[in-house]
Amino acid sequence: MPADRDDEQLPQAQDSLQVRAYANLALIKYWGKRDSRRNLPATPSIGINLSALQVRTDIYPDHPEARPSTSGAAHKADAREDRAAPEDSSSQLRLTIDGTSQEPERHQDFMTAFSQTTGYTGALRAESSASFPAGAGLASSAAGFAALALGCSELARRHGAPRMTREDISALARVGSGSAARAVIGGFSVFPAGAHHATQLADAAHWPDLRVVIATVTTRRKELSSRDAMERTRLTSPYFGAWVEDAERMADEAERRIAARDLEALGELVRASYARMHASMLAARPPIRYWLPVSLQVLDACDSLRRDGVPAFETMDAGPQVKILTNAEHVDRVLTKLEGISLAGTPLVSSIADDPEVLS
Ligand code: DP6
Repeated sequence: MPADRDDEQLPQAQDSLQVRAYANLALIKYWGKRDSRRNLPATPSIGINLSALQVRTDIYPDHPEARPSTSGAAHKADAREDRAAPEDSSSQLRLTIDGTSQEPERHQDFMTAFSQTTGYTGALRAESSASFPAGAGLASSAAGFAALALGCSELARRHGAPRMTREDISALARVGSGSAARAVIGGFSVFPAGAHHATQLADAAHWPDLRVVIATVTTRRKELSSRDAMERTRLTSPYFGAWVEDAERMADEAERRIAARDLEALGELVRASYARMHASMLAARPPIRYWLPVSLQVLDACDSLRRDGVPAFETMDAGPQVKILTNAEHVDRVLTKLEGISLAGTPLVSSIADDPEVLS
C-alpha cells in the first residue's frame, strides 16, 4: 500500500511512463458472460498476442485541480485501508485514443478496480495510439485495456504500491474488457470460463514460425460492440447454451494441439470456434451478422488455399476482418492469393508477441 501523502507530494507530470501492448487474437473464442457485473466469461478462450497490432499508451498523473468535481473524495486513504473504495474515491481517468477523448463510463469500473487493488486514488491522464484502426474488430479494446492495466499498475508501483503480479494485472484488465485479460499475458494464454484472470500456456518461442495474416476488409467502426452483441446472444439465441457447452471441449483439445504444435489440427479447431460463435449470434433476435461480402471472398480464398495443400485457417471476431493462421513458409502463398481481393490496405503479417512492456 502506498504511504499517505499530501498535495505537495502528489506526482507531477514528469512522472509519466509509456507502455506497449498488443492486440490479442482468440484462437478459441470468448463469447458471452457468466457474470456481467464482474465481467467473467461464460466460455474458456485461448489467445495469442499479435506483434503487428500494437498500442502505445502514455500515462501521466493528472494535476489535482484537473480532476472532475465528482472526484472530490479522491486521494482519501479509505481505499488503501479496507480495499473497498466507494465509487467516488476511485481514480479518475482522462483518456484519449488517437487524439479523441473517450467517454469516462467505459473505463470507470476499471478505474474503481484499479484504486481498490492498488490504493492509488490520484487522477490520471492517458494518451493512447494504435498502429491499426480502433473499433473495427481488430481487438483494440484488448490491447487498450492491457496497456492501461500495465501502465496504471506501474504508475501505482512507482508511487509506493506493491508490484502487481502478471495475473493481478490480467484480472484488472479483465474488468475493462474480457479479451484484455489475455492480452496482458504474452505468447499463448488461456482464460478459463468464470476465471478472474488469464494464465500462460506457452511463451512466443514455443511456436516461432506461426504467423497470422490480417486481412482488413474495412476500417469503418462497427455499429454493434462485442459487449452488446455477446449479451444479446446470451439473452436471445437458442444456440447459446450449446455454444457454451461445446466451447469447453474445444478449449481442452486446442491446448493439446498447441502443445504438439500441430497446425493442421489446431487450424481445424480455430475454424470451428469462430464458425460456432458466429452461428450462435446469427440465431440471436434480431440476428447479428458482422460479415461483409469481401469477408466471404477471403473465406473462399482460404478454402481454395487449403485445397491446394496450403495451411490457411481463418478466424473472425466481432467485425468483418479475417485473420488467417498459417506458418512462415506459406505466408507468401497466402498473400498472393489475397491480391485479387479489394481489401482496405495491404494485409499485415504478424508473429506472436510476448508480454506487453513498460518502455520508459
Ligand atoms: C469476439 O473482450 O471486447 O473478440 O469483455 O465485453 O469487453 P468485453 O468483450 P471483448 O470481447 C471479445 C470477443 C471476441 C472474441 C475474443 O477475443 O475472445
